[in-house]
Amino acid sequence: MLKTFAKLVSLLLTAVMLLSAPIGLLSGKKEAKITHAAPDCRVSFAAISDIHLRGNFKPIFQGMLDLGLNDMSNAKDRLDAVAFVGDITDHGDFDQWDVFAEAVGDFDIADNKLVVVGNHDTWGPNRDEFDNPEDGVKPTFIHYNKVIADRDITEMYYSAVINGYYFIALGSEADHVSATLSDTQLAWFAGEMEKAAATGLPIFVLMHQPINQTHGLPYNWELNKDDPLDEGGIGDESDEVVDILKQYDNVFYISGHIHSGYKNAGSKLGAPYASIETMENNNGNPITLINLPSYMYFDFIHGGHLFNGCGWVVEAYDGEVMLRARNFATGTWLTRYDQTVKLVG
Ligand SMILES: [Fe+2]
Repeated sequence: MLKTFAKLVSLLLTAVMLLSAPIGLLSGKKEAKITHAAPDCRVSFAAISDIHLRGNFKPIFQGMLDLGLNDMSNAKDRLDAVAFVGDITDHGDFDQWDVFAEAVGDFDIADNKLVVVGNHDTWGPNRDEFDNPEDGVKPTFIHYNKVIADRDITEMYYSAVINGYYFIALGSEADHVSATLSDTQLAWFAGEMEKAAATGLPIFVLMHQPINQTHGLPYNWELNKDDPLDEGGIGDESDEVVDILKQYDNVFYISGHIHSGYKNAGSKLGAPYASIETMENNNGNPITLINLPSYMYFDFIHGGHLFNGCGWVVEAYDGEVMLRARNFATGTWLTRYDQTVKLVG
């Protein structure tokens, strides 16, 4: 009931924002093009999530996305990559993927695009036949990775090496709200992490669903105190993912899914929440967990920053990684949420 009310208010506020984007200018500091925060940036990328593009209301939803893509393409220091961390579409239909492909195709945002699957993207026209070559979820995801990112993949997961840095995209292999990661995917993930760690550089892991019980889950998912502990998270394979992550230093796990604000500023509706958390690895060093806000929807539930159009710019330097909050739709930095993570070793 509480969640339904919150969603309703969020939708109303979203409608206001969609129809009146300049309001968002109130939400940040003065308009400024994307530039590196310091000299000698080794890799920089933007990460946004939960765009939820729809075929109906296309001009409004695509227009809201256009604002952010325009900001990325106007970067003074060109981004090396842009990551779309799932729920790109609202229902995984071809027309919704086409809206996304058309928008991304209209802008020169970065040489590398990382298209990650979200639960909504697995709810396509033939969700019951995941592998159906005509319109199954998996062939559709593979097809649009080629169209949008010019990337040849064979599974719901893949990795990319950009400026020497590993980006490992995990993805559900079933059409649930939580994720399903096969033993094959987990074994592949373990191997990719080993290769990534051999570089001695930070490792970026992209997965739509957060790790179970992080970022205020499970309460923050449905605002129900009695929910099972894995609600709103990866689900059954969360511990196995964590076991792999914990073996390595300088890991950054980037998720979306909750539609959260940058941090909890004491909303009466929200449970304790932080968009950036740490989890201790086997060496006693921090794994950095970053939860992205919904690009398309207002966050009414969690407090903190309210407006949509937001995400992070991540910049890796020798010795540190900078996490910089940005409203891409309005072209404004939100420096009050920035964090710098010192690297180990
Ligand atoms: Fe979502």
